This record gives sequence, C-alpha cells and structure tokens, in this order.
Amino acid sequence: MSHTIFVTGAAGQLGQLVVKHLLARGVAHSRIIAGTRSPEKLADLAAAGIQVRKADFEDPQGLTEAFKGAGTVLIVSTDALDGADTRLKQHRNAVQAAVDAGVERLAYTSQPNPESSRLSFAADHLETERTIKATGLPHVIFRNGWYQENLLRALPNALESGQWHSAAEGGRTSYAAREEIAEAIAAALAAPIADSRTYTLTGPEALSNEEIAELARQATGKPLAVVHVTDQQLVTGLKAAGVPDVFVSVLVSIEAEVRAGNLSIVTDHLEALIGRSPKRLGSYLVEARSSYAG
Ligand SMILES: NC(=O)c1ccc[n+]([C@@H]2O[C@H](COP(=O)([O-])OP(=O)(O)OC[C@H]3O[C@@H](n4cnc5c(N)ncnc54)[C@H](OP(=O)(O)O)[C@@H]3O)[C@@H](O)[C@H]2O)c1
Repeated sequence: MSHTIFVTGAAGQLGQLVVKHLLARGVAHSRIIAGTRSPEKLADLAAAGIQVRKADFEDPQGLTEAFKGAGTVLIVSTDALDGADTRLKQHRNAVQAAVDAGVERLAYTSQPNPESSRLSFAADHLETERTIKATGLPHVIFRNGWYQENLLRALPNALESGQWHSAAEGGRTSYAAREEIAEAIAAALAAPIADSRTYTLTGPEALSNEEIAELARQATGKPLAVVHVTDQQLVTGLKAAGVPDVFVSVLVSIEAEVRAGNLSIVTDHLEALIGRSPKRLGSYLVEARSSYAG
C-alpha cells in the first residue's frame, strides 16, 4: 500500500506521538506527511526525510494546498476552546480542504459518546463527526478517552494541600495513556483502507476519584482525600484561583460528565489495536510521579 498519511497538529503532543508510532510500525518516511502551524518545530522530522507542510485550519486555501497528494488525512482536534464555535469552524475548514484536495480517507480525534455528552465542547466533536460522515468518504473516528496525563493538572495542587476538590461525586473515568492512544491511531491508519469505523479508545478500568486518590497515595506516600463539592463551590474556587471563565466552564462540565458516567465507558478497542493490555492508571501514576509530586 503506498498511500500517504497526513497527520495534522503534528507539533502537538498527540500528533508527534502518532508520527512516532507510524514510523515504529514500519510506515515509510515517504508515506508520512506532518502538518503543523509551526513547521520550524518539526525540523528533526524534516531532517529525517519526512515531508513537513504548513497546515493551519484558519487558512482554508493554504490547507487545501497542503492536503494535495495525501491519501488519508488525520484531523487532530484543536485546542481552541474559547466558548465560541472557533474549533468547529476550524475542523469544518479541515474537512472541506481535504475534500477539495481529493483525499481518499478522513480520520478524526473525537471523544466518547459525544451524542449524550455534558462537556461544554462536545458539540464540536459531534458536528465534526457528522461533517466527516456527510462527505461520503471512508473515515475512521477515534473517540479518545480521557488522557491519564490530564491528572497532571489536578494532582500537584491536590497533593500539596492533601485535598482534591471534586464535583464528580461517585463518577468514574476510564483514563488511558496518551501515548497508547497515539499508538492505536497509528495502528489503525497504517492498515489498508477498509470500511469506515468508529473506535472508542479507553483505558482498561473505570475508577472513581477516591480510587484514583488511593493510587496517588500509594505512588507518592502523600496523604490525599477527595473533598466532594458542588458545581457552584467548584466554580467559586476556580475563579478565586484565577482560572479564566471559559476554562471554568470547561472544567465544571468535565466534572458533570464524570458524574453522569459518560467517561466511564470501557472498551477493548485500544487493546485490540495495540495488541496488549493498555497501561493501568496505577502504573502511570508511579512512572509519572516526578511530574506531579515534586
Ligand atoms: N482526550 C483527552 O483527554 C484530551 C485532553 C486534552 C486535549 N484533547 C484534544 O486532543 C487534541 C490533541 O491533544 P494533545 O494532547 O496533542 O494537545 P496539544 O498538545 O495541546 O495540541 C494542540 C493541538 O491543536 C493543534 N492546533 C491548534 N490550533 C490549530 C490550527 N489553527 N490548525 C491546526 N491545528 C491546530 C496543534 O497543532 P500544531 O501546533 O502542530 O499546529 C496541536 O496538535 C487537543 O487539541 C484536544 O482537542 C484531548
């Protein structure tokens, strides 16, 4: 198979890892195109013989040029969570540019269950999925579960005070390693084009915040208690800590999503694609200890 795989957002954390794992799977350098807003950040890939192209979803014309000759385009969802519809517009630009460029297959990084989600940004994912399906092109949707790495945001402060303020009640989350999600995406994209598919890539177990706190205690030896708060108390605390309003809404919607059980889905899709049991959160918290526990 000779068709090329264009990875957008290739300077981002997930994008970089997808390129890494395509190479690790034996996909030839000549079959990979790395797209980014900042080609200068990917000088090492260019030096290794991978085509690096400028690809900014805010620049539809440039994007169509960039996608020319690509077989598959993986659209990595952007981080434009501004509370407006910026991100959805960016994704629609990317889909249209890929169609205009004549690509053979589309792929996209979405979220679990966008149809029933309470996340403030779920509509971006749902509408992008719909836009992709409406093209009629073969497609692969990767509904990515919550990264284990997301805990690096909450745990440092929580461990410092010994208290993890959470509005998630008993809700559970099936955290997965970002790197394994990238590996799974690479495995699916490296395979020959087949029927369109939606994967939901989750970790192997859904854990409550109490169970996660216990794992963090075991990993660090530090005390950590979950303190249950209401959404309103969380909003007050986040605002007092100087978190911008738009992120307050995002963070509170994440708690509501966990509480509703929407992030607790566990599938075997990740395991099937990477060919082994996905990393458990307890192992991650031990390995990443220095990143969140000083
Ligand atoms: N499942 C989860 O737990 C989780 C957590 C956080 C984020 N996410 C989502 O997954 C995506 C990838 O995660 P990550 O960890 O790699 O995040 P990240 O390191 O923050 O990367 C942000 C990504 O957005 C891309 N981007 C931003 N503006 C763009 C634009 N105008 N045109 C094209 N690309 C643009 C960046 O590409 P370049 O810099 O290369 O241009 C980069 O790939 C995030 O952007 C977000 O949508 C998921």
